[in-house]
Parts: sequence; C-alpha cells; structure tokens
Amino acid sequence: MTKPMKLIIDTDPGIDDAMAIFWAAGEPGIDLLGLTSIFGNVHVAQATRNALRLVEAAGLNCIVAEGASKPLNLPAFPPSHHVHGDEGFGDIPPEHPKGDPIKENAAEYLVRMARAHRGELILCPIGPLTNIAEAIQLDPEFASNVARIVIMGGSLEAGGNITSHAEANIYHDPHAADIVFASSAAITLVGLDVTHQILCPASDFDEIAMRAPRLGGMLKEMSVFYLAFYESVGKFGGCSLHDPAAVIACLYPDLFETRPVPLKVITQGDEVGATVQDDSGTRAPVDVCMGVDVEAVKALFFERLARLD
Ligand code: RIB
Ligand code: CA
Repeated sequence: MTKPMKLIIDTDPGIDDAMAIFWAAGEPGIDLLGLTSIFGNVHVAQATRNALRLVEAAGLNCIVAEGASKPLNLPAFPPSHHVHGDEGFGDIPPEHPKGDPIKENAAEYLVRMARAHRGELILCPIGPLTNIAEAIQLDPEFASNVARIVIMGGSLEAGGNITSHAEANIYHDPHAADIVFASSAAITLVGLDVTHQILCPASDFDEIAMRAPRLGGMLKEMSVFYLAFYESVGKFGGCSLHDPAAVIACLYPDLFETRPVPLKVITQGDEVGATVQDDSGTRAPVDVCMGVDVEAVKALFFERLARLD
C-alpha cells in the first residue's frame, strides 16, 4: 500500500476552503499535517478560528498555525464578506472552537515542516500567497525542500474574478505571488482556467447533505450564501469548486491537463494581480492547469465527502 501524501493547506476559510478541507478529511490518500491561516476571505484571526472549527468538526488530528494579517507590501484589504458572509461561512450560526493555534507562526511552521519532510511535503495554498513568500524569504532552501506547491489562484486565459484581469488570491498579494513564481519550487497552478469549468448547483449540495448529513449538511447550509453571491453576479449554473479543485489536483494530477509556462505577476497599474507569461528566461515553468476532467473531479468530490459522517 502506498503511503498517504503529506499535505499542508494554507487557507483563508471561506466557504470553498471549508469544502476543500472537508474533502481532504475524507480522502484516505492524504495525511493532513496542518492548516496555516491567512487573511483574505476574512481577517486572519477569523481565518484561524474558522480553520480550528473545521478541524474540530471533521475530527482531524492536525495543528493550525496563524499566518499573515496583511499583504507583504500593500495595505490590508477588507474581507470578502459579500462572497463568504460576515464570518466566512455564509449564514451558519457562529461557534467558537475549543482549540488554539500553535505558538509558531505560519511561515516558521512551514519552514520547519518542509525541512522535516524534505522532498515529501505538498503545500496547497488556497488563499493569498503571503505566508508562502515569507517562508521562501526565511529559508533559502524552502523552495527545494517542498516536493510541490499546488496553488489555487491566477488565470492564464480565463480573465479575472475580482477584476477583469485578476483572480482574488493573487490580487490580494501580487508581490508575494511573484516571489513564489520566481522561486525554484515545483509549482502547479489551479486557476480560473479550470475552476470556472467545475460548477456545483444547489442540487449537488442537496446530494452531499443526503450522503453525509452532519458535515455535508454544514457545507450545504454554507453553500446557500455562496450560491446567492454567484447568482447576484449573473452566474446561475452553480458555484465554482475553486479550492477543492486545488486539493484534488494534489493527489489526482492526471485529472488535469497542464501547460508549462514561466509566470510573473503584474504588481501595479490597471492589470495588477494578473498572472502572465514571463519572458525573461530566468524563471522555471509553472504547470498551469488548462484542462480538467470535470465529471471525474466532481465524482471524487462527492465520493470523499460522502465518507465524512
Ligand atoms: O478566486 C477564488 C479564491 O478566492 C478561492 O480561494 C476563494 O476561497 C477566495 O479566496
Ligand atoms: Ca480560499
């Protein structure tokens, strides 16, 4: 039997973050070592509380380390309450987790874990990339110690979702994302080119709640707010499985078609936050996901969530 993959998810929970983390909890091929929190959909203190709440709800045996509260160079952004609700989980009743984050901050924890599990650790950031850039700055060997970084973010040909050019996670810290793309790490980018193809309508969440009444039911309750946001911007086909797609790509890369492209991030001007091809000849190519087996990804999403309760 192959050993489960060691994974850390860097997250700003967030409704689709919750879906991704519950999916990882139901996937036997994943050994989830920790969650690191980051500002983004909510303030970082709320992201840490939400991460702890998800760990406790899913009965996960993993730590939570708190990360950055603002981008590297830009002032703090307001949270995305209109997309994810005031506390990040739509309209579900607030609940205070029992546990606490570890004392180490996210970047220190990432550096330590990448050294301890050299060549084995997959890192899956599903929020802004500030913690990952800080880890790269803290330890020159970090990028080569991690086996791969599988990022939910960016867009090569699909346009943006927070502006017409930029995807939200990259937009919220373009300088950090550029540091990550300039590093020597092996990187997969799971961006809007594929996540805009993977849609879940309300009926999918009914099915998930039927198969896993407790945790699937929690996701269904959260999804009401998320789907309402999508409809408010004219998207009636369902919400995108952004963050679950990235976590699924960590373990099932064959479900995605990739294109090798060296990347840089536009850090100022009208197109700030856009991920574009870098022609300097100095950067290693990123495996950018451009195609996806939508039915297979959705089937896996349903199947692993169904094991949760
Ligand atoms: O653009 C989608 C990303 O932005 C997801 O990670 C979502 O949770 C938000 O952070
Ligand atoms: Ca997210």
